[in-house]
Amino acid sequence: MSHDSEPTPLSAAPGAPLRGRLRPPGDKSISHRAMILGLLSIGETRVEGLLEGDDVLRTAAAARALGASMERLGEGRWVVRGVGIGGLSDPAETLDFGNAGTGSRLMMGVVGGQPVTATFDGDASLRSRPMRRILDPLRLMGTQVLAEAEGGRVPLTLRGPREAIPIRYETPAASAQIKSAVLLAGLNAPGTTTVIEAAATRDHTERMLRLFGAEVSVTPHGPDGHGRAVALTGQPTLRGTEVVVPADPSSAAFPLVAALIVPGSEITIEGVMMNPLRTGLITTLIEMGADIERLREREEGGETVADLRVRASRLKGVDVPAERAPAMIDEYPVLAVAAAFAQGTTRMNGLHELRVKESDRLAAVAAGLKANGVAHLIEGDDLLVHGDGAAPPGGGTVATHLDHRIAMAFLVMGLATAEPVTVDDGAMIATSFPSFLPTMQALGAGIGE
Ligand code: S3P
Repeated sequence: MSHDSEPTPLSAAPGAPLRGRLRPPGDKSISHRAMILGLLSIGETRVEGLLEGDDVLRTAAAARALGASMERLGEGRWVVRGVGIGGLSDPAETLDFGNAGTGSRLMMGVVGGQPVTATFDGDASLRSRPMRRILDPLRLMGTQVLAEAEGGRVPLTLRGPREAIPIRYETPAASAQIKSAVLLAGLNAPGTTTVIEAAATRDHTERMLRLFGAEVSVTPHGPDGHGRAVALTGQPTLRGTEVVVPADPSSAAFPLVAALIVPGSEITIEGVMMNPLRTGLITTLIEMGADIERLREREEGGETVADLRVRASRLKGVDVPAERAPAMIDEYPVLAVAAAFAQGTTRMNGLHELRVKESDRLAAVAAGLKANGVAHLIEGDDLLVHGDGAAPPGGGTVATHLDHRIAMAFLVMGLATAEPVTVDDGAMIATSFPSFLPTMQALGAGIGE
C-alpha cells in the first residue's frame, strides 16, 4: 500500500441483479480511535470488529511505536495495552501513515500534547494534504513544529510540551479530524479544552472519550443550534475498556448504491451504524426515491445499528443542502454515481472540503463522470449531475489518484452502465474495505482485474 506499489487496474461490467446479505467491515473512524484511546489508557482495551484495513493498521503500528503493546486474537479481535496519558515514549522511527489522513491527524494531536518527539510521513496522497489545520491549534497548545514540508504538510516533526495549554478553539472547517486532534492534545492539559464547531461533525471522539472515563460536555452552539461546543476536562485517567465496532456506513454505501442501480437487485446490509452524524447519504437517497428499509434497529457498542434492506429503485434528482455535508462527507463520490442514474438534476451544495480528501474528490468525480459520458457541472463548490433515468454509457477509464472511494464509486457505476468501467488502480481499496472485491462478487457483481 505504499506509494511505490504497482497499480492494480480493476473493471466492473454490467450483469445480473445483486442478491444476498453482507456485513461491511468495522467503522474506520471508530477503529482508529480504539487504537489511539487504547494507547492513552491504563490497562487493557479489547476491540471486537476492528477494521483491519491498511489505514487502521498504520495507526496500530504508530500506537505500538509510541509504547502500546497489542495482540491480535482473531479476525477483528484485538487487545491493546496502553501506557496512559504522559507515559508515551519517543518512537525509534518515522511514523508512516501511508494513505491515512484520520490516523495521522489524530495522532498529531496525541503527540502534540505529550512530551514526545515524532516524525509523521505518508504516501503521495497524504503528502499533498493540508496539515496546517492541525498544526495551527497545536501550536497554541504548546506544540513545537520542528520540521514540516512546504505548505504545512508531511513529512513533519512534532515535539509536545510537558503539559499542553488548554485552549478554546473555533475550528475553521467542519472537520471531525481537527476537533479530535485538539481534544486529544487537551487530554494532557491542566484545565478545560473547548472546541467550537459551526456545524456538528461526527462525534466518535467525544463518545469514546467518555467510554474510556473522560469528562466531556457537548452543548448546542450558534444562532441556529447546528453548531456544538465540546468541552473536555484535561488530565483524566483513561481506563482500558471494551470497544465493539459497528459496520461502517461509509463502506456500506458502495453495495447500497450498487443494489439501487442494478435492475432487479435486492440485498441486506447487516449491522450498519446509524449515528445521525453519518447517515446523510441514506437520507438523501430516500429523498431520491430509494427503497431502503431499516430493520432490526438495536444498540451495539454504544451506537444504534440496523440492517438495511435495499431494492433496485427509480431515482429522481434532488437538491442536497450544504448543511448535510458533514453527515455524508465521504459519500459524495458514490452519491454522484447514484445521481447519474436518476431522472433529473442532483445538485450537491457546499463541497469545498472534498478538495482536500485523499484526492481532490470534486475534480476526480467530475473527471470520472466525464470519462463515462455523464452530463455534469461544477459551479463554485457545488456539483450538479444530470441524469435522464437511463443507464449512462460507461466505457471509460477513471483515474483514482490513490483514492479508495473514487475507485469503489466508479466500480459500482460500471455494474449498471451500458459498457464496463475501468479504474486505473484498485490497490487503495484495502485502506478501508479490504474485502470489497469478494464481498461484491458474492452478491453477483462482475468486478475483477
Ligand atoms: C473522519 C473525518 C472526516 C472524514 C474522514 C474520517 C474522522 O474528515 O472525511 O474519512 O474519522 O474523523 P474531516 O473531519 O476532515 O472532514
